[in-house]
Amino acid sequence: MADALPEHGVPAQEILDELCALRRADQPTHGGRLFAYVYDPGLAGLDDLANAAYALSAPVNGLDPTAFPSLLAMENALVGAAAKLLGGGPGSSAPDVVGNVTSGGTESLILAVKAARDAHPAIESPRIVVPVTGHAAFAKAARYLGVRLDAVPVDPATLRPAAADIVAAITADTVLVACSAPAYAHGVVDPVEEIAKVAAAAGVRCHVDACFGGWVLPYLRRLGADLPPFDFSVPGVTSISVDLHKYAYAPKGTSILLHRDPGLRAPQYFAFGDWPGYTMVNPGVSSTRSGGPIAAAYATLRRIGDEGYLRLAATTRDAVRALAAAVEGVEGLRLMAPASSTVVCFTAEPGGPDLFVLADELTARGFHTQPQMHYADLPASIHLTVTAAVAPHVAEFATALADAVAAARVLGPVQLPAQVLATVTGLDPAELTGDVVAALAGALGMGGEGGPLPERMAVVNALLDAAPVAIRERLLVEFLGLLQRPTFD
Ligand SMILES: Cc1ncc(COP(=O)(O)O)c(C=O)c1O
Repeated sequence: MADALPEHGVPAQEILDELCALRRADQPTHGGRLFAYVYDPGLAGLDDLANAAYALSAPVNGLDPTAFPSLLAMENALVGAAAKLLGGGPGSSAPDVVGNVTSGGTESLILAVKAARDAHPAIESPRIVVPVTGHAAFAKAARYLGVRLDAVPVDPATLRPAAADIVAAITADTVLVACSAPAYAHGVVDPVEEIAKVAAAAGVRCHVDACFGGWVLPYLRRLGADLPPFDFSVPGVTSISVDLHKYAYAPKGTSILLHRDPGLRAPQYFAFGDWPGYTMVNPGVSSTRSGGPIAAAYATLRRIGDEGYLRLAATTRDAVRALAAAVEGVEGLRLMAPASSTVVCFTAEPGGPDLFVLADELTARGFHTQPQMHYADLPASIHLTVTAAVAPHVAEFATALADAVAAARVLGPVQLPAQVLATVTGLDPAELTGDVVAALAGALGMGGEGGPLPERMAVVNALLDAAPVAIRERLLVEFLGLLQRPTFD
């Protein structure tokens, strides 16, 4: 790696060439072959527009909207568009809806939890109720904010929580009930109406995490999809998060957190006047924030437009159907849930292929999927986030999947070295120091000349899947810690 602070500045073109060379090691962000992390509408010229808009507003600082009214205007327009899409605004059942642009889904969820917590200063030990399929960011919010998380199980057949279990989990200290539309892992929309009803009956806020699906489900419904209501038309829903950097296809760095009315939002803000510096009021976690992502999102929405999003949703829906049919056509695989949103998630039947080996075989055929570990009584699975750019490749994927399953059956399941297995299942998490993890990684062929990860990930995934949760978390922390070391020339 080049020195980030060379003695003399380097010519611009040379630096851009270096960046291009570095980017070649990355997974493909465009072209519909990566089924996680990226959202690609496959629209020519959109990136150029978004990048130009980003560059125009990158130096603007959202810290003070009165100094930069351009940003305030764009943020309010984005919030208005999101509110309208999600059943709020003039003439709706949520006419007083308000909101903010945040940096992403995680920040939106942290702020939803903060607003709920700070609305009840008298509750000493606040708690939130979240189905186990709720995004990990709720757990992060709970830990960051000192709130207890009461996890509610889901039915292993439907992957949905029961309203009765939500009721049972609500206590006098509960400040928020959460649900998802849909939950990321399997793409299942929770029974929002029933959950919001019991939350309202208990006098508790109900947040709908529509970070993943909030920009596409309304269009799928317009196209006739049979999806349960999940937006502000549902009584009892007090806040909704929707990420623009997912199905609104905006560049990374924008999500929206909506509240049904300004009173619900007020405790989300942080204001501080008790220091000698500038008076401080922030809607979100960061103080200084670039106008780049907001301008890029604004440009993206205006370029695609309502009709464009409807078309993209139709393309995505057709791709989802074709991918789900491909999975159902392969013996030994089964869908975790009907593919009713934009996720196709499948697992292996008993006697079916090893899923982690299968994921490697798909990678070898140019399709990058997302393996998910088993959880309680839910089996390990392979997750596909489907975006519009996937559509041209569905037939190729079907062939690759059938071939990959055949190859995975021939290879058989991953055999973890006995000593490695003993280490991860037998150790106390506190004993998993950086040195132990480095030795483990070395034993699995990681961190050598070929880079931090082995070419085939099955062994790593099998290890993580075998490890108890506390050990898995320690392994991940220590391993990332090993990767994130400064380089010195
Ligand atoms: C349902 C859901 N909520 C929250 C998040 C977190 O979003 P982000 O990665 O933008 O912080 C995700 C991310 O995939 C998600 O799918």
